[in-house]
Amino acid sequence: MRFDSFKIQHDLVVWLTVAGDKIRQNMADQLHVKTKSGRNDLVTNRDKEIEQFYVEQIRTNYPEAKICGEEGFGDDITDLSGLIFFVDPIDGTMNFVKQKQNFATMVGVYQDGQPVIGAILDVMGQQLIVGGPENGVLFNGRPLIPLADRPIADGLIGVNSGMFAHNINHVQQLIETSSGARVTGSAGIEFIQLVTGQQIGYISNLSPWDYAAGQAIGAALGIETHTVSGEPPSLLKREVIIAGLPEIWRNFYQLQN
Ligand code: IPD
Ligand code: CA
Ligand code: CA
Ligand code: CA
Repeated sequence: MRFDSFKIQHDLVVWLTVAGDKIRQNMADQLHVKTKSGRNDLVTNRDKEIEQFYVEQIRTNYPEAKICGEEGFGDDITDLSGLIFFVDPIDGTMNFVKQKQNFATMVGVYQDGQPVIGAILDVMGQQLIVGGPENGVLFNGRPLIPLADRPIADGLIGVNSGMFAHNINHVQQLIETSSGARVTGSAGIEFIQLVTGQQIGYISNLSPWDYAAGQAIGAALGIETHTVSGEPPSLLKREVIIAGLPEIWRNFYQLQN
């Protein structure tokens, strides 16, 4: 490998910690909130500032890398060659605006489409999870061990509210066989719950920056990430993603056929 995955991991921890501090210190400020594709798709000045902060850090420290950022300060990514940083400055912007909690900031790093490192910070909960297949995973500095597969009846499943309401891909039937559904509104926090064993699976329609960090971390711990047809996610477009222990995928796949 042409890069040092431990240096990237160290840098991500520093950048996410600074970003989290900036967000928490300014929580009382008036936000400028705009809609994007519709009334439930928000962006604030803070999302943009934090993405610009990450882009500056990446351009300075990894000038050869490409950046796929949600708010458009990165590059136009059309293929997965080289080192790519996937940046979601505030994941769960609706929660950030409405609840002032239950949101994350996250970055996932890939080389030629393969996961290197992911880092997710639950900003208000101050839970930082970082790592990848080569480095292992740290949760607030302590190592996490790979998870054993377990029956779907023993686990909670995170799901996106629209998919649950409209029973997309038979998610309601899947959830009936589990311990129940949870709707968190932040993909990053859903992945934290997956890799710490609080949930057995997560199903949502996601963009690459929503799952890049979680997929890289999960790959080190036995968490698989699939599309509906069982392929690895493309990292180039928005699609339905199923992440979890192998048992969730087996049950999901049976319901589709
Ligand atoms: C959203 C959240 C949400 C998921 C959406 C994402 P954003 O990210 O992760 O939980 O259901 O699909 O777009 O836009 O708040 O960064
Ligand atoms: Ca968004
Ligand atoms: Ca997101
Ligand atoms: Ca976002």
